[in-house]
Amino acid sequence: MKTILTGIRPTGHLHLGHYFGAVGNWVKLQTDYETYIEIADVQALTDNFDNPDKVVKSVKNLTIDLLSIGIDPNKANIFIQSLIPEIAELTVFYSNLVTISRLERNPTVKTEIKSKKELFGEKGESITYGFLGYPVSQAADITAFKGEVVPVGDDQLPLLEQCREIVRKFNSIYGKTLLEPEAYLSKFPRIKGIDGNEKMGKSLGNAIYLADDDEEVRKKIMSMVTDPNKIKIDDPANPDICMTYYYHKLIGNENLKTVCEECKLGKRGCVACKKELLNKMLEFLKPIHEKQRYYNEHPEKVDEILKEGTKKAREKAKETMKDVKKAMRINYFE
Ligand code: TRP
Repeated sequence: MKTILTGIRPTGHLHLGHYFGAVGNWVKLQTDYETYIEIADVQALTDNFDNPDKVVKSVKNLTIDLLSIGIDPNKANIFIQSLIPEIAELTVFYSNLVTISRLERNPTVKTEIKSKKELFGEKGESITYGFLGYPVSQAADITAFKGEVVPVGDDQLPLLEQCREIVRKFNSIYGKTLLEPEAYLSKFPRIKGIDGNEKMGKSLGNAIYLADDDEEVRKKIMSMVTDPNKIKIDDPANPDICMTYYYHKLIGNENLKTVCEECKLGKRGCVACKKELLNKMLEFLKPIHEKQRYYNEHPEKVDEILKEGTKKAREKAKETMKDVKKAMRINYFE
């Protein structure tokens, strides 16, 4: 069985963008791969070091979200990054293998720095050492578990490339020790927001969360952006620029063809179309909400799952650490 390692930052609940863009895939993959899912609290702290409460609170919420979409703790190990000190150790060794200019050229890091500057002005100019170095730490995340396949959204590809470079450099200096991971992209690597923005994101305020209650989901669907040229109920419209149609498609409405045809012919009002989507969406969310409720009422089960997953993950990371130290000749007393 090949090994999958993937990670997610605990900074809030999962939304549909996460689900369809990446996380939903993990449910299928966990059956065919040895699976490690990292709750990347250390990485989340690179952006939130002054607000640890937000990160800590999200660890449990995120774990509940993962369990409620069908991540099975008997198949996948869900673990907490900060409880695996080997990752931090590897990060230190790998930091010698990366230049600062290479980190600054990483497209994902570049985009993030740019948006920090836009958001925080002057303050956004001060990029920390930890933030700039998080791709190195992410390479440690992946290689600590001998991850071969990394299922991620497309924004993560530059980080994966950086990881592969570190692996190659390590192997060429110290001898073949680490595995070069491959990305696994989902069918829809990027999900649009309800406002029509190319990306659904928490900071963009255009997300439907898996933990949203029925009323919130209703409000969000009713506010979805539709074809602006459709004014009267029987005006024909263009489904290709309508978010309601986009979401019908995304959640797999079996009447999709009818939705499309009626929309184009002006035989379907937007409100009715949104109501149909709402019903489908609530159907989709119902089993997820039931599981969320269960785990919220049994927090001790969540703790147990995290402890067990972390224990297994740590065993694997310790093995890797041994190999790495041996390759680097710093296995002093062995
Ligand atoms: N950087 C990823 C994100 O922001 C999260 C992450 C941390 C990750 N460690 C990882 C993803 C290792 C893949 C592999 O979503």
